[in-house]
This record gives sequence, C-alpha cells and structure tokens, in this order.
Amino acid sequence: MAIYGNTISAELGAENTGHRDAESGTDTLDIIPSAPHPTPLANEVREGLQKTPKRLSSQFFYDAEGSRIFAEIMHSPDYYLTRSEYEILNTHKADLLRYVTPDERPFDLVELGAGDGLKTKILLSYFSDQKADFTYAPVDISVDALEELVVDIRQKWPDLRLNPRHEDYFSALEHLSEAADSRKIVLFLGSNIGNFAQDEAIKFYRQLHDQLLPGDLVLTGFDLQKHPAVIHTAYNDRQGLTRAFNLNLLRRINRELSANFDLAAFDHYESYNPETGEARSYLVSQKNQTVRIDAVDMDVAFSYGEIIHTEISRKFTRKQIEQLAQETGFNVTGWFTDCKEYFADVLFER
Ligand code: AVJ
Repeated sequence: MAIYGNTISAELGAENTGHRDAESGTDTLDIIPSAPHPTPLANEVREGLQKTPKRLSSQFFYDAEGSRIFAEIMHSPDYYLTRSEYEILNTHKADLLRYVTPDERPFDLVELGAGDGLKTKILLSYFSDQKADFTYAPVDISVDALEELVVDIRQKWPDLRLNPRHEDYFSALEHLSEAADSRKIVLFLGSNIGNFAQDEAIKFYRQLHDQLLPGDLVLTGFDLQKHPAVIHTAYNDRQGLTRAFNLNLLRRINRELSANFDLAAFDHYESYNPETGEARSYLVSQKNQTVRIDAVDMDVAFSYGEIIHTEISRKFTRKQIEQLAQETGFNVTGWFTDCKEYFADVLFER
C-alpha cells in the first residue's frame, strides 16, 4: 500500500509519481511487491483517460451488474437486434443444421461472447432434438454470465457435451485448432462484430481463417444499415437501459479501482452516423470536475461537456459483409435475415 492509494500520494497527485520511493523512506523492495496488480481494467483506465478524446473500451461493460443490464436491454422493445436474430435462428434452424452437418461428422459449436446464450439455446434445443453429435463450447469474458449459462444448460440438456471457456476472443481462437478431428462451427452472434473497428474485424477473420480448416464455418450476426432513427433509438432507449449500462462502467471503476466518479455528474449520449454506419456511445461530464482514481494514482480533470467515448456499434451493408469475407479468405455460403431485413446471420465457409 505504500505507493498506490495512500493519503500522501493522493495529496501529491499523479505528477509526482517519480519521487515517491525516496520520499516515503521505505525500502523499494518492500514497496514493489505490495503494489496492486495492474488489472486489465486498471491499464485501460490509465491509458484511456489520458487520451484526447478520452476513451474506455466497451469490453469492460460486462461485470455482474453490466451483464444483468445488458440482458434487460436484449428484452427491451427499442433494442430490435436480439428479437431480429431470435427470429432468424428460429426460422432457419433446420437449414443451419443441414449446413453444419452435411455428413455424420461430429462438430464443435464454439460460441464467442456467449453471454446468457438466449439465442443459442434455440440451436442447442433443435440440434439436441435432432440427435446431432456435437460439443458446445461457450466463450465469454464475463465469469458471471458464463457460470449462469453453464448451470442452465446442464439443467436443460444434461447429456450435452459442454466445454465452457472464460477468456477473450483472441485467446479462444488460439485454442480452436486443438481438437482438430471435429468440424468447427464458430458462432459470433448478436452483432458483437459491431464493436470492432474495420481493421480489427479484418484481423479477427484472418485469425479465424488461420485457426480453422477447409469446410469449417463461421456464423456471424451483423446488424444491417436501416433507417437511422431506428438505430439511434436502439441505443437511446426510452427505458434508459443503455444509459444505465453506459454509466455502470463508472460504477465499476469506482468499486474496482477505488475511484470517486459521481454518476449524477455524467450523462449518456448516443450518436449514429448513417454515412459511416457507426453508432457511438459517450459519457458526458455535466460540469467541470476532477475525479480521483486511487488504484492508478490519477486525478482526472473533466471540463463541462467533455466526453469519454465508450462504444462503437457498427452497422453493415450486404456489400461490406461480402467484401469482408472476400478480404479474409472466406466464402459466403449462407445469408439469413429476419422479415424486416434489420439483421443478418451470415455463414462464412473456410
Ligand atoms: C453486445 C456489442 C452487440 O453494440 O449493440 C447494447 C452492446 N451497447 N446497447 C451492441 C450494446 C448498447 C451490443 N453488443
């Protein structure tokens, strides 16, 4: 506790970091091991809040409370994405199974960012009824969401082979090639792809391409471009759920990094630009204020109206999706949409 979070360093502020060892008069060897381990959130906060404009990654939305709010968002009338994809999977589950098992070979259903698995359960249920020979491997960065999912699945389908993984997408991809005897079906649903910038998306599918074998499949949920007002409302919903979801990131930082963000002094703002297809979420400082974040030993100044950019949710055209497949070495072998054509689940074959 000598360096981080003590009263002296709090008074000195972040600029004086370099002098503290000498001033404390404590043996450095005693100090270093007792400093808090820099967690991924601590690193993100340290780096992101020093940028101009300030930013924090949406990856950190999903603590227990964030996952709970997101589950509510998925049920809300303004957030059309989940309902559209639910309709797609329910309408096309038999088609999908035919694509996935052209022969009797067992397959691995690897789901990246499984969350509460609401939509995947349609497939699990149908595939199980059809006596398909498969393992379900949900991957998620939220332990809480993953544990809940596993308990629920064990109860609903006790015979299903389950291989849950608590990790991020990229480490999960590295493990994909380990069980090489079964066909891989990678599910990346819910428009999670929308959180990636274009270069990250390309890197992601190239990496998938490297880890998969010919004949393996990727099913991605893409939110399609549509009337901008429909998109804007989905991220600025009338129940205030997106707002609570965004602000919860500050609450998480308060708790995990001993910070003192005043949630009432920040607002939620959403922009959708139909020219770029990017919905962007921001937190807006409602006054001039300084926030103390003990665990990273920072005092962060915000001016009135200053923003923290927290999320990008990209919307796609069919052309962009086909282009993405082509650039990363995949063939588009299936295109499934809901009746309004709001959303598409697209099969890429390696
Ligand atoms: C889970 C990333 C697909 O971007 O639509 C929902 C998260 N953010 N409302 C999305 C989210 C605000 C969601 N994804």
